[in-house]
Amino acid sequence: MRNLFAILIFIVLGFGSAFYVGFGMGKSLEPKAYDVEQEGLKEKVIIKFSHVVAENTPKGIAAQRFAQLVNEKSEGRIEVQVFPNGLLYRDDEELNALLRGDVQIIAPATSKLTDLFPEWLILDLPYLFKDENDVARAFEGPLGNKLFSTLENKGVKGLALWDNGFKQMTSNSGPLIHPDDFFGQRFRVMPSLLIESQFRKLGVTPVPTPFNDVFKNLETGKLDGQENTLSNIYSKKFYQVQKHMTISNHGYLGYAVITNEEFWNSLSESDQQIIKEAMDQSTKWLRENAKLLNEDVLKRIKQWPDIEIHFQTPEERKEWKQRLSLVYDELFSILSPDLIQEVKNFKP
Ligand code: LMR
Repeated sequence: MRNLFAILIFIVLGFGSAFYVGFGMGKSLEPKAYDVEQEGLKEKVIIKFSHVVAENTPKGIAAQRFAQLVNEKSEGRIEVQVFPNGLLYRDDEELNALLRGDVQIIAPATSKLTDLFPEWLILDLPYLFKDENDVARAFEGPLGNKLFSTLENKGVKGLALWDNGFKQMTSNSGPLIHPDDFFGQRFRVMPSLLIESQFRKLGVTPVPTPFNDVFKNLETGKLDGQENTLSNIYSKKFYQVQKHMTISNHGYLGYAVITNEEFWNSLSESDQQIIKEAMDQSTKWLRENAKLLNEDVLKRIKQWPDIEIHFQTPEERKEWKQRLSLVYDELFSILSPDLIQEVKNFKP
């Protein structure tokens, strides 16, 4: 009997405390720290920045600098988490991930926007820019602004145009001196109809391939060659599986740093200002340093004994230019007159 009484008391007390806690009757006794923590969490902004290249490249370094600047300017309240090497998304996935809002910033090569935004094919034109000054004039001037305006109200907001550098050609199937030397080869290309067309003019089969599959496909012989900047050729070790490289500077590889429009509009004006300032500073740093980074890795590639490097002569450049420039008319047939004029402002 005494046992039964003890069990009853136990049950009554158990229910009582469950009600007390469950329905919040003891709220005033709860520690305040809980609320403070929740407020802190609410204010913190996390930005996932995904890209596909190595950390020791112009884009990789600029992304880190940007993250650090945002952190400093916001006193740690805005955190930019950088995911390099396609760890989060491959290059053929990242734009959709941005549009879905799964990632807040990406910086794809401009060629990778061309499927959705064909005007960006302009930046794939061969020999459009003669040097980095031309590139800066385009990226910071009316051409860059007009290209960014094509993204408006389509879920994407442009933040900056970032530099990498001029592209070079590599191959395993012989030196690339004259346009006919390319004939019959299979080349990796970024997904851009204009780049594909350019390679067809050389008698090459273009094979659109995600960036982080290129090394493997060159190594196993699925591909003969590829075009890329020196920093990408070096950091992804393409030079170790290619016998020939021509320093041709035939096209430019730059990046559109873009964010999800809805995410951007959800930020306060002062947070937008912090991000803009950090972006401007990292863009300026890149504009001053991308060329030097590419030049530096050329010295390293030169030390690799198994690759032959050819520096294109002005006569050879003329031959390549003549063959590749056939794609200009193809692009002009789909561009508006004002964009054609922008292109003509650059082409010598
Ligand atoms: C490539 O796919 O070759 C480049 O776009 C990689 C990069 O982001 O520089």
